[in-house]
Amino acid sequence: MSAPLDLGFLGLDQGAHLLIRRALRTVDAGGRITVTGGAPGLGAHLRAWARREGHGFAEVPGRTATWALVRGSAEADRWAGAERAGGAGPDGIVARPPAHWGLAARGSLVEAGGPPTRFEFDDRDVVWADLAPRLYAHAAAAQWDPATAVDWTADAALPADVEAAVVQVMTYLVENEQAALVIPAGLLARVHPHFREVQQLLAVQAADEARHMEVFTRRALLHGSEMGTSSVGGRTSLATLLTEPDFSLASFLLSVLGEGSFLSLLAFLERHAPDPVTAQVTRLARVDEARHVAFGVAHLEHQGSVDPALRGRLRAAIERRHDVLADTAGLNADVFDALVVLAAGAWTPEAIARGHAAVQELQHAMDDGRRQRLARLGFPPDEAAELSALHTRNFM
Ligand SMILES: [Fe+2]
Ligand SMILES: [Fe+2]
Repeated sequence: MSAPLDLGFLGLDQGAHLLIRRALRTVDAGGRITVTGGAPGLGAHLRAWARREGHGFAEVPGRTATWALVRGSAEADRWAGAERAGGAGPDGIVARPPAHWGLAARGSLVEAGGPPTRFEFDDRDVVWADLAPRLYAHAAAAQWDPATAVDWTADAALPADVEAAVVQVMTYLVENEQAALVIPAGLLARVHPHFREVQQLLAVQAADEARHMEVFTRRALLHGSEMGTSSVGGRTSLATLLTEPDFSLASFLLSVLGEGSFLSLLAFLERHAPDPVTAQVTRLARVDEARHVAFGVAHLEHQGSVDPALRGRLRAAIERRHDVLADTAGLNADVFDALVVLAAGAWTPEAIARGHAAVQELQHAMDDGRRQRLARLGFPPDEAAELSALHTRNFM
């Protein structure tokens, strides 16, 4: 028999069980260790502990303050039927993580039993993109602080009507950012946590939108206290995004088509910004939006490669939304006018003509971008052009 485990004066109420358990693990079930120690009442405590843990207990004849423990099988029995929840890294992802893995960390040893926790989006081919871990790391590294990333004192006193145009555009942006926050936030709660990086990415995406809401509101109120208008057409367009229950379709309509169009809009606003703050806030938002679009495209590219029926569903989603919105005004006319004013930069007929042409060009640029992204998802050019034309006139 090996030397007894000497607990010194450490009692079972002070953590002695850690040393005892560690010693028991050095023998097989049925194997025996001896324990010695001087803590008051240690023998009685050991007897009770051993019974609770399923180990045998015996006095050692002729020895004081020394007891024998025989390792039981309870610990091994407890983990019989346990399974690994896939592997810890992204290469350990399984196709369909079961509901009973629930909130267990990916790669952990999951004790059998326990409540099933149902997460609706539990299919790798629906939610996953190999780009997700890298996009998440990039997103986490690219977080900026609205208080310091923008030079809020870079003041430019604008003519009142130009300032009003900025306020109107900012009001419209905030409305759209709110939709862009609510949608990923809702989706991420329905994604199985096994697809951790997708949840993390969507969480950071929601945080991005929170900052966009902040900086656009702050720019709107930089020189005044009143926001611009919100139109029925704009809100109706966004309402159709909020009610899309399907992960892929929601992400397609929001990220690929809506946020994709916003990339052009934000670039336009940065280019025609009448003041440095407007240029800064639209640039910061555009960089974030590019990531949101990249994930949408990447995950639908992956899904399209394994599900040939996907394109038909995407097409139907665009058509359905177009039909619902057919009788609505689309873009708030105040927003359209404000964009023309910003691009015109002056109040002469020639300048307004230039501004108007620039907004037409912006709409072409949005259309080009949508067609390119649709082509990446496998739509032939003529179909991509047709579908892009059906996109909401509200841009988002
Ligand atoms: Fe945004
Ligand atoms: Fe976004």
